[in-house]
Amino acid sequence: MQHPPRIHVAWTPADVAALADADLSRSLCVAIDVLRATSTMTVALAHGAAAIIPAAELDEARAVHASRPGALLCGERHGLPPEGFDLGNSPREFTRERVAGRTIVHTTTNGTRAVRACARAHETLLGCFLNIAAVADRIRARAHEVETLVLACAGTFEDFSMEDALFAGALVERLDGWHPVRSLWAGRTGDLETVLGRTRNGRRLKELALEEDIAFCAQTDSAPTLGIVDPKGWILAYR
Ligand code: MLT
Repeated sequence: MQHPPRIHVAWTPADVAALADADLSRSLCVAIDVLRATSTMTVALAHGAAAIIPAAELDEARAVHASRPGALLCGERHGLPPEGFDLGNSPREFTRERVAGRTIVHTTTNGTRAVRACARAHETLLGCFLNIAAVADRIRARAHEVETLVLACAGTFEDFSMEDALFAGALVERLDGWHPVRSLWAGRTGDLETVLGRTRNGRRLKELALEEDIAFCAQTDSAPTLGIVDPKGWILAYR
């Protein structure tokens, strides 16, 4: 990294929620929800979605969707699409045929909240293994503009989630930066799919017969598209 910014890791949903009240004007944020929200939103953008509007609550998502004819209503609660939703939160659902040119209103338990909490930063990116090289390149290019790199790990319900911290560690390693989170990545054993499958979220996805999502989200650099939050809080693909 040029002029290495200080690295701050928001480990838990409570740490992430606190970012909403912090001054992030000199921070570059990466919102991270490997299983599955930021992976799914990255795939949607890679497949040509026009924009993603992240909503924190179901009612809010339904109201925003109702005001935007033609938009898709997507997301999950307890891992599954809520009633009346067009798509859930599986990256495999977000094919080019379904999402190209469409605006997506997306709400998930933790991931879309993390994006919202970071929205007032100097810049906020979506991070996941599918686009890790693109995220690292963007951070290298913008590092001189900020004082802090914030890695916002969305977590699972109210807890820390290992897969998000592993991604944070992998990103710090790629940037050749220093933060203790790097040691989690350096200390992993097994291939990425196996590692993700052992996490609490990975086990939950297996219980829901969604284990193919784990393999999908482990495909490093397979969707090198950068989702960036615009001043309205919408997520657009950087082109
Ligand atoms: C979340 O936002 O909490 C996750 O993306 C949940 C999920 O994948 O089901």
